[in-house]
Amino acid sequence: MKVTIVGAGNVGATCAQRIAESDTADVYMVDVVEGLAQGKALDLAQAAPVVGHSRQITGGQDYGPAAGSAIVVVTAGVARKPGMSRDDLLKTNGRIVTEVMTKVMAVAPEAILLIVSNPLDVTTYVAQQVSGAPRERVIGMAGVLDAARFATFIAWEVGCSPKDVTAMVLGGHGDSMVPLPRHSTVGETPVNELIAPERLEEIIQRTRQGGGEIVSYLKTGSAFYAPSAAVADMVAAIVRDEGRILPASVQLQGEYGLTDVFVGVPVKLGAGGVEQIIELDLTEEEQGALHRSAEHVRETIAVWEALSKG
Ligand code: NAI
Ligand code: 2OP
Repeated sequence: MKVTIVGAGNVGATCAQRIAESDTADVYMVDVVEGLAQGKALDLAQAAPVVGHSRQITGGQDYGPAAGSAIVVVTAGVARKPGMSRDDLLKTNGRIVTEVMTKVMAVAPEAILLIVSNPLDVTTYVAQQVSGAPRERVIGMAGVLDAARFATFIAWEVGCSPKDVTAMVLGGHGDSMVPLPRHSTVGETPVNELIAPERLEEIIQRTRQGGGEIVSYLKTGSAFYAPSAAVADMVAAIVRDEGRILPASVQLQGEYGLTDVFVGVPVKLGAGGVEQIIELDLTEEEQGALHRSAEHVRETIAVWEALSKG
């Protein structure tokens, strides 16, 4: 089983490391910068005897070796700097994802496409438009990361292990995302029964701004350790046909009362990609927040459509 990663930068190379070192799949990395993917792949391959795995990790500028990949992960693009929103990346990354998708489809038309580049929900839409792949095979990674951030802050607040927190975040990957305390638990208990409302609201806000908080520390780029862990988890769910229930950005066709928009919802992930879209029982307020978030994605898609025609 082979996974191709387009973009051998911070997220891409760390994904490669996690996927190979967890013995999930062989990895091929592609990057537009000469030598970058080759060099990082060679370095990662030379860690194998120490780490103790037999996975192949290779890299190049050419898309040929991506042929036969079960999954193509797209991390190509520019990352945020302080003061930038994810939407500020739209023009550059929309064009990069368009170019990348054209090249990927020429060699791996059956691959499951796992998109990471920002603004996430819109680049996933772009990937679907350019590839023409069915919605089961076009998936955006954001919800696993956003839920992991929410779970981390919950664990710190209640003083338990992050392993015992299950968190759920719906919506677009941006300030309008919708953390769901009623569907997030510590052990069996929903977090809205464990944390006082004002404090919970602060944790929700910190989750919404979780990416920006890291950008403000790093200054020259954005998060990549937790994002790559999220990608590797989704890749493993597909490669091992696990049927995991994870939040992901997918094209909705009537689910949650939304049509023709990519937005984060819980899905069942297995060998076929998205095997089911799970419809949670939402309150009116939660449903309203999800619809407002989807509206923001729709508006950004419209901006992209105008840009790409101009
Ligand atoms: P990075 O700058 O470290 O790496 C990006 C890589 O893409 C660079 O090596 C660059 O040479 C390559 N690239 C640019 N144009 C390309 C092209 N046309 N073909 C192939 N490769 C190309 O950035 P980083 O930190 O790895 O982030 C990558 C993207 O992922 C950014 O857009 C970032 O905003 C996004 N991101 C999304 C997350 C999510 O939750 N969906 C989480 C973290 C990052
Ligand atoms: C994040 O949330 C950059 O979208 C990325 O960290």
